[in-house]
Amino acid sequence: MATILIIYSSTDGHTLKICRRLQCVIEQQKHHVKLVSIDDAPVTDLKPFDKIVIGASIRYGRHRPAVYEFIKNNRETLDSKANAFFSVSIVARKPEKNKPETNPYMKKFLKNTPWQPKDLAVFAGKLDYPRYSFLDRNIIRLIMWMTQGPTQPDTVIEFTDWSEVETFAQRVSVM
Ligand SMILES: Cc1cc2nc3c(=O)[nH]c(=O)nc-3n(C[C@H](O)[C@H](O)[C@H](O)COP(=O)(O)O)c2cc1C
Repeated sequence: MATILIIYSSTDGHTLKICRRLQCVIEQQKHHVKLVSIDDAPVTDLKPFDKIVIGASIRYGRHRPAVYEFIKNNRETLDSKANAFFSVSIVARKPEKNKPETNPYMKKFLKNTPWQPKDLAVFAGKLDYPRYSFLDRNIIRLIMWMTQGPTQPDTVIEFTDWSEVETFAQRVSVM
């Protein structure tokens, strides 16, 4: 039985929802999972965990700086354990951008951090116009219009392929 820490960076809760699905699948394999937000990660004792997974969403083209900061400050510990990273974005709904090798944010992430995670995943996120501020809603609608996505202001869609999330959970269980 392994003890696994999943650290999430989530603004509107969708990455956290993905983490909860990971937790559910991994715990079915009899491992123990703890979820911690990136804001609490710096004060979390990493020693007891056998594996560490970090998941972060994209907002306006980037993962939160706190993600990079945490990785920078804990690089040795991360490298000493089984570890993985996943990124959540709307652009990953596109088949040509839904793999670690083809997703622009994952590529940028790997370029901007010295940490090379042992496993990687990219998941499509959630579009939830009614939840966004007026400004955010209209900026995202414009981006969607430019990339042939939905622009109806009442649209709520989860683009996440949950079977891919479960496949990643299985990999984390055995890594
Ligand atoms: C204000 C805002 C900006 C976003 N910027 C991007 C972006 O630049 N590229 C992208 O692919 N997705 C973008 N997204 C989509 C989010 O990555 C997606 O909704 C994800 O599910 C959010 O996860 P979270 O709820 O865990 O933060 C944006 C969403 C919002 C609300």
